[in-house]
Amino acid sequence: MPPAPATTSAYPPGRLAFPHRHLTGIMGLQPHEILFLLDTAEEWIEPNRTRAAPDKRLAGLTQINAFFENSTRTLLSFEIAGKRLGADVVNMHAAQSSVKKGETLIDTAVTLNAMRADVIVIRHMSSGAVRLIADKVDCPVLNAGDGRHEHPTQALLDALTIRRRRGRVEGQRVVICGDILHSRVARSNMLALTALAAEVRVCAPSTLMPPEIEAFGVAAFTDFDAALEGADVVMMLRVQNERMSGGFIPSTREFHARYGLTLDRLARAKPDALVLHPGPMNRGVEIDSDVADHLTRSAITEQVEMGVAVRMACLDVLTRGARGVEGWA
Ligand code: NCD
Repeated sequence: MPPAPATTSAYPPGRLAFPHRHLTGIMGLQPHEILFLLDTAEEWIEPNRTRAAPDKRLAGLTQINAFFENSTRTLLSFEIAGKRLGADVVNMHAAQSSVKKGETLIDTAVTLNAMRADVIVIRHMSSGAVRLIADKVDCPVLNAGDGRHEHPTQALLDALTIRRRRGRVEGQRVVICGDILHSRVARSNMLALTALAAEVRVCAPSTLMPPEIEAFGVAAFTDFDAALEGADVVMMLRVQNERMSGGFIPSTREFHARYGLTLDRLARAKPDALVLHPGPMNRGVEIDSDVADHLTRSAITEQVEMGVAVRMACLDVLTRGARGVEGWA
């Protein structure tokens, strides 16, 4: 069952506002904890835009970005977030890592721990790997996407984008369409958006829809046109070819015909409906270029901007205890 929805940003002070050591997922977070992270992120948006005098609150701390799976924007976003806060940021890519040489996940965790990092950001191709490493290290761990499981900072940046552009998350009809089955973005978003009392619809061909999806408190559709009726937000997802072993969709042409977001199709949503996509986009498959690049409807580049603010907030909040911030130590 999703937690009871929160509609105000009233949260307890200090450590009680976010009592978790790690951020491995949205699962297990209370609505007020999600709102606390969004409000904290909100404070970084203007300074990031105006290049205000930098607040190096993570100076002297080491942030390791351990990425066992390819990533461009998420890695860059975490790196920029850490550097803006003054952390010493070190990136470890899978291609250079011992994982390729057969090291076990536990050995990797022990090695990362011995480096005495102050915060570790992990992306991994296996669901649950981040939790496993988090249990073995002494510092806070942030999940940057693990397999088909969760991608919490993506869901937070999506919620922040929706809140800023639509004024609120509560009551918004959000349609998430695409490869729901293999998507950690869909999973984290279903958890975050239902916690914040949005009305969530998911849409996919039946082969790409997880069984018992309604347990997330969402409505499931296989007909995209029906799902789009009256939507406030349309979030499009990529078909995750790397996570499937063929045969889930007849062809990308067919997928586009039934599930691609075109301008014509978008007309079924509210006239001012917002379009989101976590990237990377497959233009002409799940989304047409004239929708993706639409000046007023697409918030895709704004999502990237919100991503940096959200990751700064998460890095800040998770290291407050170790930095001895009053009320957090
Ligand atoms: C997503 C991911 O890696 O899960 N991308 C991202 O973080 N920007 C979505 C995807 O790969 O399709």
